[in-house]
Amino acid sequence: MNSDCERILLDEKMIQARVKEVAAQLDKLYEGRKPVVVCILKGSVVFFVDLIRNMKTPCELDFMAVSSYGAGTASTGELKVKKDLAADITGRDVLIVEDIIDSGNTLYHLKKMLNARAPASVNIVTLLDKPSRRQAPMEPEYTCFEIEDEFVIGYGLDYAEDYRNLPYVGILKRSVYEK
Ligand code: PRP
Repeated sequence: MNSDCERILLDEKMIQARVKEVAAQLDKLYEGRKPVVVCILKGSVVFFVDLIRNMKTPCELDFMAVSSYGAGTASTGELKVKKDLAADITGRDVLIVEDIIDSGNTLYHLKKMLNARAPASVNIVTLLDKPSRRQAPMEPEYTCFEIEDEFVIGYGLDYAEDYRNLPYVGILKRSVYEK
């Protein structure tokens, strides 16, 4: 285990088993269709890669980078798009792949933005959900793991851009971010 980790929350085996289960559910949902599967950079990249490798459904891959303004404020929720989709999603089934939902602001606004492009459907699959932190009304259609409000790193998740390549989800030691 990385020495900055307090403990491992989800080990590789647990993650891989759950990713397989959720991939099978998505295969059922999209049977006979070809969704555009969207990786929200950067945190979801590891989950995205494992998920699509476990899905049998033919799919198109796309990438988006966004950041939400004014989380926790009464802002009307502009979302800054740093990198937009390459695909035209009009009439397409869209699957958004996220690593974590916290306040829900990012996905609430992203879903609204993508729905305005007239897709056939928009669904969200997230690796982690922290429902206790929610500010925006955002319920993902698929969640791999609901977790408590802990500072998690690894399997794509970072602290100051570190730890994304750990193969497990760990809890970061307080001493690391309180320095
Ligand atoms: C994280 C995560 C979500 C968002 C969730 O991204 O990937 O996009 O925060 O938070 P919210 O529910 O409170 O809106 P982050 O901005 O850390 O970027 P990264 O994926 O590049 O690390």
